[in-house]
Amino acid sequence: MSRPEVADNVEALRAQIRDWRRHGQRVAMVPTMGALHEGHLSLIRIAREKAERCVVSIFVNPAQFAPTEDLDKYPRQLARDLDMLATVKADLAFTPTVGAMYPAGFATKISVGGPSAGLESDFRPTFFEGVATVVAKLFLQATPDCAVFGEKDYQQLCVVRQLCRDLDLPVEIVGAPTIRDAYGLAMSSRNAYLGDAELQTARRLNVILREAAAALAGNAGQKDATDEATSSLIAAGFQKVDYVEARESLTLAPWRPDRAGRVLAAAWLGQTRLIDNVEVPTA
Ligand code: PAJ
Repeated sequence: MSRPEVADNVEALRAQIRDWRRHGQRVAMVPTMGALHEGHLSLIRIAREKAERCVVSIFVNPAQFAPTEDLDKYPRQLARDLDMLATVKADLAFTPTVGAMYPAGFATKISVGGPSAGLESDFRPTFFEGVATVVAKLFLQATPDCAVFGEKDYQQLCVVRQLCRDLDLPVEIVGAPTIRDAYGLAMSSRNAYLGDAELQTARRLNVILREAAAALAGNAGQKDATDEATSSLIAAGFQKVDYVEARESLTLAPWRPDRAGRVLAAAWLGQTRLIDNVEVPTA
């Protein structure tokens, strides 16, 4: 299996995409920060069903990391990523430099309201500005017909949908289910930070969220169900729980039992912050 072509600058990206378009081919994009795993590969498989061509961006976006966060230690492994992309037949890897994405004097930020309120934003106040800005840039650079995002980062998926709707970006956003290990732990590049004991604890997160979701479906009070989940996470070995909340699936407004719901959480294991979310089951 051959590795995909690599475009490390916007001109090369646009030349390739122009060529595809000349041949009447549709283009799907999968934005990533690299350190690829099965979760990312699942998005690329979906992208390949949606369009003849698939471009995967690999860019560790400094704008979405706060100064105290793990930008420097975030895993960077391009050669391995390209080998993985070969297995799913991605056509092109776009690997821009930080200098090209944010040249000296760069001064624009995109701030999305609506679904960005609360949850992650309470703990990472500039995160979604960084995500929205880079996603808008990637879309304007590649002009894809559609782009695939994982439900693993559920609030991010909602923010990207809002961004495209509000700015009339002509990109169809496709949401993709969370890929999990045999114990239900959502795959994440940050799982690489976990030691053996932490991994065992991490695997409790999805179980506890599913229990909370089942309780909510069974008419438990929201505060009772989310407080109980928080206590269970601490008992399981998480040091700190940033939030466990039930929200409306489509808008991320506070959940009402007659609406489709999602339970979302973020919790710390040592230096590692894990997020996950599950659907509130319906009868
Ligand atoms: P990254 O964390 O690399 O994730 C890239 C895409 O893979 C996102 O859409 C994310 O939701 C999806 N993903 C990650 N783990 C997944 C899993 N276990 N199952 C399914 N999908 C999964 O998210 C980002 O990068 C960045 O914020 C980005 C959108 C690229 C902007 O910089």
